[in-house]
Amino acid sequence: MKNIILTGDRPTGRLHLGHYVGSIMKRLELQNSNDYDEMYIMIADSQALTDNYDNPEKIKNNVTEVLLDYLSCGLDPKKCTIFIQSAVPELAELTFYYMNLVTVARLYRNPTVKNEIKLRGFEESIPSGFLNYPVSQTADITAFKANIIPVGNDQLPMIEQAKEIVKKFNDIYKGNLVMPNALLPTNETASRLPGIDGKNKMSKSLNNCIYLSDSKEEIKRKVMEMYTDKDHIKITDPGKIEGNVVFTYLDVFCKKEHFKKYLNEYESLDELKAHYQKGGLGDVKIKLFLNDILQELLQPIREKRELLSKNQDELYKILQEGTEKARQTAKKTMKEVKQAMQIDYFD
Ligand code: TRP
Repeated sequence: MKNIILTGDRPTGRLHLGHYVGSIMKRLELQNSNDYDEMYIMIADSQALTDNYDNPEKIKNNVTEVLLDYLSCGLDPKKCTIFIQSAVPELAELTFYYMNLVTVARLYRNPTVKNEIKLRGFEESIPSGFLNYPVSQTADITAFKANIIPVGNDQLPMIEQAKEIVKKFNDIYKGNLVMPNALLPTNETASRLPGIDGKNKMSKSLNNCIYLSDSKEEIKRKVMEMYTDKDHIKITDPGKIEGNVVFTYLDVFCKKEHFKKYLNEYESLDELKAHYQKGGLGDVKIKLFLNDILQELLQPIREKRELLSKNQDELYKILQEGTEKARQTAKKTMKEVKQAMQIDYFD
């Protein structure tokens, strides 16, 4: 069996550090392993419109912003097919047929959707397209016969629903849809990177993000603002590591060589933590250390982004080529689905 990877993002904003550690890093690792047959990355504009139908401009503008984030992190259109969801109409067509295989009650039970309905205040006025987006996500996955879906934990209910639909389709129509599997992040912290406020997961709506495209000054300002330990007032006070955002980030981003480069009085993160817990280590010092580490990571990404953003034509060319390629694959699957469903009248 072929290994086909598919994953995607809703273009509702620029990508931030949470995306970087939660999904981009995994994609880069997969891409550079060359250990797969096909890899697709979808910019899910249709899905983004299910709860932003009244703001098409926002979605349109963020399609190229997200592409810029991908490319500047090192995702390579020669190795993975980057495409726009709405420009592959077969995905909408598949969704229409899969809708018959899911009950409305089942759609309401999806815990991620439930949570999103609450967050968006939809309550009694849920757009039916929004309620249905897990079905459209099943179309995204099955159209490409993808078996490996790298996602965060919050996307597990989508993969569960996709599996149910695939099973039902194959049972009823004697079809050949490929059963997908989620590939979850192995690092718990990385899959739920907290925002700089330390309260919640990093998220645009909570205004607690460090964006991949933030300037040097913005990054530093945000690091200096980070939540540490409210009882660590004087340098001599003992400090807490748990819930301290600076240490949570150091756990994710700090490597041994960073000490030699930026903080050579210490040899390891364990040593730094021990000193902080004992007392005598100030917040400014650990924040400046984290700032150095994040600047080192983000500077090349930002510079590449600036360069690439000057050539919008080239960006659309990448999207167009990727979309054409994706469409060929989706067309083939659509044909098979129609055959299985006996609606291939003129073939
Ligand atoms: N729902 C995903 C998110 O919000 C985006 C997405 C759309 C996706 N279709 C997909 C992810 C198919 C994986 C596979 O991040």
